[in-house]
Amino acid sequence: ALERTLSIVKPDAVAKNVVGEIYSRFEKNGLKVVAAKMKHLSKQEAEGFYAVHRERPFFGALVNFMISGPVMIQVLEGEGAVLKNRDLMGATNPKDAAAGTIRADFADSIDANAVHGSDSLENAAIEISYFFPATDVYAR
Ligand code: CMP
Repeated sequence: ALERTLSIVKPDAVAKNVVGEIYSRFEKNGLKVVAAKMKHLSKQEAEGFYAVHRERPFFGALVNFMISGPVMIQVLEGEGAVLKNRDLMGATNPKDAAAGTIRADFADSIDANAVHGSDSLENAAIEISYFFPATDVYAR
C-alpha cells in the first residue's frame, strides 16, 4: 500500500555533507520526498520526539547527539514506505548493517548512525505530525 514514513538525516550525516547522497537512495528506490526541512532541534523537541525511549539507558546520550547540530527531516512516500526505508537504512548498529545500506556506508556508531526512520505505520503517523502540519506535506 502507499505509505508515508518519517525520516531524519542525523547531525553526523549532515556534518559529513551526504544529505544529497542519502536523498538519492530514497529517490532511486521509489520513495518521494513529500515534505522536508532543516532544523536544529531544541532539547525539548528531541526529548519529545524520543519520548518512547525516555527510560532507556541511552536516552540522554541520544538526545545530546540529536541536538549537536542541524538535522534534515523529511516525509517519504511510496509503496511500503515504512519497511522500504528501514531496508535502505540497514541495522541500527552500523556494525550489523548489511553492505550497501545507508548506515553501512555513512554511519560511525550506534549513536551517530546517520539516519532515523519510523519503525511502524502507526509511529510514522505520530512522528510525521510531530514535525509537519498536514498543510506542509505535499501529495504527489
Ligand atoms: P533511531 O532509529 O533514531 O532510534 C533511537 C536511537 O537510539 C537509535 O536510532 C540509535 O541511534 C540510538 N541508540 C543508542 N543506543 C541504542 C541501543 N542500545 N539500542 C537501540 N538504539 C540505540
